[in-house]
Amino acid sequence: MNQTGAPAASSSNRGTAVVTGGARGIGAAAARRFAAEGRAVAVLDVNRAQGEALAAALEGTGGAPARFYDCDVADADAVAAVALRVERELGRAGVLVTSAALIPNTESLMEMDLAAHDRMWRVNYHGTLHACRSFGRQLVAAGGGAIVTVGSINSLLPLPLPAYNPGKVALARLTQLLAAELGRHRVRVNSVAPTYVMTPELQARIDAGQRDLGKIMSVHALDTLPTPADVADAIAFLCSPQARTITGVLLPVDAGWSGSVSYMTYAGGVPWDREAPAGAPSA
Ligand SMILES: NC(=O)c1ccc[n+]([C@@H]2O[C@H](COP(=O)([O-])OP(=O)(O)OC[C@H]3O[C@@H](n4cnc5c(N)ncnc54)[C@H](O)[C@@H]3O)[C@@H](O)[C@H]2O)c1
Repeated sequence: MNQTGAPAASSSNRGTAVVTGGARGIGAAAARRFAAEGRAVAVLDVNRAQGEALAAALEGTGGAPARFYDCDVADADAVAAVALRVERELGRAGVLVTSAALIPNTESLMEMDLAAHDRMWRVNYHGTLHACRSFGRQLVAAGGGAIVTVGSINSLLPLPLPAYNPGKVALARLTQLLAAELGRHRVRVNSVAPTYVMTPELQARIDAGQRDLGKIMSVHALDTLPTPADVADAIAFLCSPQARTITGVLLPVDAGWSGSVSYMTYAGGVPWDREAPAGAPSA
């Protein structure tokens, strides 16, 4: 342990930024963010078209290379093989973000197709574990680094998303186990827990009347949902030297959802007029 105030964990190590599920959404925003910081970026995804387009756009952004790797994170051997290629082609990993996931719609546990249930665990939970093991070894060999797993508000409370919801709970615990195991190697492991993220997919569902934005916002403290870039900001912070003594935490990026959802749905109501315009003084 370092008691002198010198870096306790070498999150300022350079090294390649590896982002699973980096072809789009939150992963792509994180990849953009790390490229802008001048890191080499490895985008791992099964979406070749978007992954290659992003890597081409990022190439040289901050003066470092960016490359797409076609990789199904559910396949441990495939992840291990890609990890070796990334190390050879871009250099050792310095940070890892695990954003790859299948995202379901509301479903019944009793009705859900079991093959789909198992596939979701394979991608969301096992895929994260595979990436943490293969790239975590590089972080250890480098003498330190940072991992950020992508959890969800599903990591915090029950929501009607079988496999996805308990899988995100398991990811939060996995993050803590890894933080405990890798801390002595100066590898920090944290997680972010976004609420509904304002992605083009969510916007399309709102526009199509499949999601009620008013209902969503009524259980948040703030009046703005995070964008993928907002989540990437939180990820970048957790990977930065400013977070050098932070490990094993689950950081909500949730516009206050986790702190206020039970308050906002209290049967006695909230002590203000929900119909009054935001910012108006109470009578
Ligand atoms: N969008 C939200 O509202 C929201 C909220 C909370 C948490 N999250 C979490 O954030 C993360 C990213 O979500 P997003 O909204 O950016 O989703 P997204 O669907 O836009 O991106 C997920 C990416 O993962 C990739 N992927 C899927 N299966 C894969 C596999 N087997 N191997 C490799 N890559 C695979 C997809 O091709 C895609 O590019 C996920 O972990 C998700 O659970 C999202």
